[in-house]
Amino acid sequence: MTPETAVDHQRLEAELQALLGPHAAVACCSTDGDVSTLAPVEHLAVARAIAHRQKEFAAGRAAARIAMQRLGRPAVSIPAQDDRSPKWPDGIIGSISHSHATCVSVVALKLHWQAVGVDVETDNDLPRELWSSICVSNEIQRASTLPDAIQARWMMRIFSAKEAYYKWIYPQTRRMPEFHDVEIFMNATLESTGFFVHPLYGKSNGALPNPVEGKLMIGQGMVISLIIG
Ligand SMILES: CC(C)(COP(=O)(O)OP(=O)(O)OC[C@H]1O[C@@H](n2cnc3c(N)ncnc32)[C@H](O)[C@@H]1OP(=O)(O)O)[C@@H](O)C(=O)NCCC(=O)NCCS
Repeated sequence: MTPETAVDHQRLEAELQALLGPHAAVACCSTDGDVSTLAPVEHLAVARAIAHRQKEFAAGRAAARIAMQRLGRPAVSIPAQDDRSPKWPDGIIGSISHSHATCVSVVALKLHWQAVGVDVETDNDLPRELWSSICVSNEIQRASTLPDAIQARWMMRIFSAKEAYYKWIYPQTRRMPEFHDVEIFMNATLESTGFFVHPLYGKSNGALPNPVEGKLMIGQGMVISLIIG
């Protein structure tokens, strides 16, 4: 699969915005952010990081600020908390993801939803040696119904859905689920446009959380998973 060397970020934004509807805003940009645009309180999080990481972090903050302005909110600073999660301003929920060449931020008003989680991955194979640590047996079984040549790309979609779920659930519960704590239900095709996350934690004490629905967007060499709710 071609890496995202020439992503049309405007098109990507338009497609994601169409998925989100009018009560959320999205901004996409390259990962080559301008570190000088970071507020001192933001810069603290990457002061000792290598240049690529600093630029990627700055790109995420820049995208988040553009998205907040699109919501009609001021473009304030977004410090990183000790657990690395962004500290969004009061009344705002948001999420940031970067892959090889693209950074995406989605923000929304808390008035409408509890949280949002976004994940961007390159539409590549998920290495087979990682399958058993990331996927539950049902997911591996479902992959086996696909032609051999595309199983690992389908698994990348499962991985991305779990990453988006992590970012969606964490701000609500401060819980860090393991990969085997959820099962992803997704049509066994590379063209799937959505998925359900079924939490498996809590099974033993009957406190099984409700499944949550996510959206999947495939295009320009990327897999993008989105959960808002
Ligand atoms: C935190 C994690 C999900 C980030 O994903 P990633 O693919 O490494 O990187 P991404 O670019 O997609 O996302 C990074 C962004 O996530 C955000 N983030 C980090 N920790 C977060 C958290 N606990 N909650 C919400 N968002 C978080 C940050 O904005 C970060 O970017 P920044 O540091 O530049 O601000 C990942 O590193 C991780 O720890 N995964 C293991 C846990 C997991 O996914 N379990 C699956 C459960 S089903």
